[in-house]
Amino acid sequence: MKKITEMAHIVLAPYVHAEAICADFTAGNGNDTLFFCERAQKGFVYAFDIQKEAIKQCEALLKDYRNVKLITDNHIHMENYIHEQLDAAVFNFGYLPNSASTLVSEPQTSLIAVQRAFALCKRHAMLVLVCYPGHEIGEQEAQCIGEWCHTLKSNEARIMKIAMVNKPHAPFLYAIEKL
Ligand SMILES: C[S@@+](CC[C@H](N)C(=O)[O-])C[C@H]1O[C@@H](n2cnc3c(N)ncnc32)[C@H](O)[C@@H]1O
Repeated sequence: MKKITEMAHIVLAPYVHAEAICADFTAGNGNDTLFFCERAQKGFVYAFDIQKEAIKQCEALLKDYRNVKLITDNHIHMENYIHEQLDAAVFNFGYLPNSASTLVSEPQTSLIAVQRAFALCKRHAMLVLVCYPGHEIGEQEAQCIGEWCHTLKSNEARIMKIAMVNKPHAPFLYAIEKL
C-alpha cells in the first residue's frame, strides 16, 4: 500500500497542470514542493517553512527550478506573499523529518492557516491536509481541522478522508475540493 504522503500526491496530481499555481505550506525537506515544481513547469509554486533549516534543504533540492519562491515565515502570513488564486495546495503537518528540531505545527495557527488557504483556492482547486494524530499536539490539530471540515457545506467543498481503518493513530489526509 502507498504511504500517506504518496497518497497526497496521487490526490493532488490531476489539479497540478503545467500552468498551475501551487502552495506547499509546510515545505520541510521539500518533497512536496519538488512534486509541484516538476509538474507546474510554466506555473508557480510558493513554499513556506518556519524553520531556516528546512528552507536550506529545499534550496538544495530545488536548485534547478525557477518556478518556485521559498519563504522562511509562518504560513499564517501567506497573504503577504500570495496575491493570486491557487489551483492546488498542501499542508503536511508535524515535525521536520530527520531533524533534531522538536518544532511542530500548532493546532490554532494551523486551523487559521488552513482557512486562509481555502479562501485563496480557486473554484475546483484541491487542498490536501496530511494530519499526524500519533502525538498529542498532532491529535488536537487533527481534531480542530476535522471539526472545521464538518462545518463546510456540501455546496462549498467536497471533502474526502483517507485513513487507515485498523490503525487509528496512523497519519491520514483530508482532500478538500473547493466548489
Ligand atoms: C512533516 S514536515 C513537512 C514535510 C515536507 N512537506 C516534505 O515533503 O518533506 C512539517 C514542516 O512544517 C513546518 N511548520 C510547522 N509549523 C509551521 C508554520 N506555522 N508555518 C510554516 N511551516 C511550519 C515545520 O518546520 C516542518 O518542516
